[in-house]
Amino acid sequence: SRKHKVTIVGSGNWGSTIAKIVAENTREQTDVFEENVQMWVYEEDVTIPKESKHYDESTADQPQKLTEVINKYHENVKYLPGVALPPNIVANPSLNDAVQNSTILIFNLPHQFIRKVCEGIRGEIMPFARGISCIKGVNVSDDGISLFSEWIGDDLGIYCGALSGANIASEIAQEKWSETTIAYDPPPMDSRAPTPRNASPNPDAAGEIPEIQHLDARGRKSKTKLTPLPIEYPPLDHNCFRMLFHRPYFHVQMVSDVAGVSLGGALKNIVALAAGFVDGRGWGDNAKAAIMRIGLMEMVKFGKEFFGETVRTATFTESSAGVADLITSSSGGRNFRCARKAVEKGISVQDVEREDLNGQKLQGTSTAHEVNSFLKARGLESEYPLFTAVDGILRGEKKVDDIPALVSDT
Ligand code: NAD
Ligand code: 13P
Repeated sequence: SRKHKVTIVGSGNWGSTIAKIVAENTREQTDVFEENVQMWVYEEDVTIPKESKHYDESTADQPQKLTEVINKYHENVKYLPGVALPPNIVANPSLNDAVQNSTILIFNLPHQFIRKVCEGIRGEIMPFARGISCIKGVNVSDDGISLFSEWIGDDLGIYCGALSGANIASEIAQEKWSETTIAYDPPPMDSRAPTPRNASPNPDAAGEIPEIQHLDARGRKSKTKLTPLPIEYPPLDHNCFRMLFHRPYFHVQMVSDVAGVSLGGALKNIVALAAGFVDGRGWGDNAKAAIMRIGLMEMVKFGKEFFGETVRTATFTESSAGVADLITSSSGGRNFRCARKAVEKGISVQDVEREDLNGQKLQGTSTAHEVNSFLKARGLESEYPLFTAVDGILRGEKKVDDIPALVSDT
């Protein structure tokens, strides 16, 4: 039988951490997975920081390719410094080469770059590959709003699930215990796991490859017809993904609610900015708790209003991808920290991001604008006062001091 080859598309702070987790598992499960894990790296020149154990004074000024540094020292010195990566991670600067023959594609990069990445690999991947999106954001276009899992799936013609949770990367990279939620709801032909929603072989495709019609994350017939996984491969089901992601320090809960898991990860970033704003203003824990409460209500309302066919309230209120991520992100995430500092210093969040994050990217600022433009176009801003206030503050049109009055009826 064949083995699954795994590619991580992305290599930032979280991308490198997920690569570490996955590579630790593939080398322990070599009957199911190829040991080596490809990691696509957006190539750039780096210099090794002085604090690094790989720092060498004689070559300190000479920029080196990030991929070469990762493959030589097994450390992502720019985006995950100080963390030893398993040697079976292969950093690859060629996106096309990195995805060749892979049956499992893990998308893990800031959401603003995913469109270009998909364009680069459309038609180049295995037709029966399956994806997991670790991206926290939503895709807003003239047509409306979609999840990145949906968007990647439709764009590449594959099934794509979602991973999201209370997962600050630096803690997990140090193997401190945490939980995560993986939503994967493939058609039954793909899977040994019980699936709650139906799908059937497409009667129109009675040719050599019976494509599968399936339901998307909103319960509608997907425009993408899936190519089934050849029988020689181990099934890509809940067991397989648990095997790939679960570690003693990273506990996986498998669920079917792709929309709830994806929205939890995207929308909590807006709330974490608000938590940072009030903390920066010095208002203390009660104000922060109020922000989290109101934020959670707006997250549930948004999910029910726009993804109501499939979304489960419990995903927001009970899973790691919901309330737990909201709490951790509003306590120590980058969106929270940058928003707090922006208020303390009286500068913009974008300035703090540029100065403090060494190339890492915030997702909350663009998500706040995208969600706001979506709500505004539908005349719904007033029904989501906290989301709307965050966008107004980022644009300089509202002040942190306006928040209590703006959300007073919530
Ligand atoms: P990051 O913030 O470290 O971003 C930097 C990455 O972006 C680098 O890999 C860089 O090479 C890449 N990049 C820069 N310019 C690019 C371009 N033009 N094209 C393609 N790539 C480019 O990224 P991250 O922390 O790995 O975040 C990825 C996703 O994971 C985000 O959606 C984030 O919300 C989510 N997430 C992050 C964390 C965390 O703690 N870092 C935790 C959970 C989820
Ligand atoms: P930040 O991007 O704000 O650091 O959030 C990380 C995260 O998603 C934790 O679960």
